[in-house]
Formats: sequence, C-alpha cells, structure tokens
Amino acid sequence: MAQLPILRYPDPRLRNVARPVQAVDARLRALIGDMFETMYQAKGIGLAATQVDVHERLIVIDVSDERDQRLVLINPELLWAGDELVKHDEGCLSLPEIYEGIERPAAVRVRALDEQGNSREIEADGLLAVCIQHEMDHLMGKVFVDYLSPLKRNRIKTRLLKAEREDSRARERRP
Ligand code: NI
Repeated sequence: MAQLPILRYPDPRLRNVARPVQAVDARLRALIGDMFETMYQAKGIGLAATQVDVHERLIVIDVSDERDQRLVLINPELLWAGDELVKHDEGCLSLPEIYEGIERPAAVRVRALDEQGNSREIEADGLLAVCIQHEMDHLMGKVFVDYLSPLKRNRIKTRLLKAEREDSRARERRP
C-alpha cells in the first residue's frame, strides 16, 4: 500500500466529473487500499477518488471512532434523500483547516457496489449521511465550499493559496 498525494482546492482537477468504475478487480482493490491508507494517515473520515486525481466513481469512508469500520462505495447512486435538512460543520482533506456549516438532507439511501463487486443499499443518517453526500459531490466535481457565498468562497481560496505558498517555501528551505 502507498500513500497518495491529495489534490488541494482550488486545483482545477477537483472539478473533473468521475466516470463509472468498469471492473472491481485487483487494480481497483489496490487503489482502495491506498485510498484508505491515505485517508487514515490524514485523519479524514472520507475520501473520493477525485481527490487523489483518479476520476472514477469510488469513495472510501470510515466514520467510526475506532477507525475499523471501512465502507467502500463503488458507482454510488442516490436513491432517496429525506425532506428534513440539518446543518453540520464540514471539513475536507482538500481544504485543510477550513470548517463551515453546510445544510444537507439529514438522511439518504444510496445503492453502490462494495469491494467484492456486490450491489448493496445503504440507508444513512447523522455523520455518515453527511459524509456520503460530501464525497458523492466530489465525484461530480463539487466541493463543500460551493454551497457558500462567492465572497466567503473567495476568502477561503485566498487563505488556502497563501498556506500552500508558505508550505512550498518551507519545503524549499529544507536541506
Ligand atoms: Ni472532501
């Protein structure tokens, strides 16, 4: 397994729309392993393939405190979303240290293939529902700050670009 570099907003590749996964095979399972390793290392609860520059409909999630409840969604489809909306503070591995309250349906039902290629339906609420919707947005080229006002989004963009410049300068100073 290997850790993969995570694209950072506003990288234009985060805007790519993912295509369906064609086969649940050894190549895909290796990618799934790498994505979990990358997500756990970064202390995230979800990661879409888009964020590691692979534009296929694949998501890995683990919202458990023990970090032992792996959930893999391949070619996920939204079957139903509840009418009730909830606001939750969201963050994203592609937008380090940015947290904003985003309103979404409180419960969803999705159909997806699992790691074995079996079709399953998942009904989720709470944090898992938030996470599934957030990651499915990534597959459509959408990030959570798209729900904010343009003014707020531009402020976040400026802040992240500045942080990235400082990071790369710090890297250059290293011997
Ligand atoms: Ni994200």
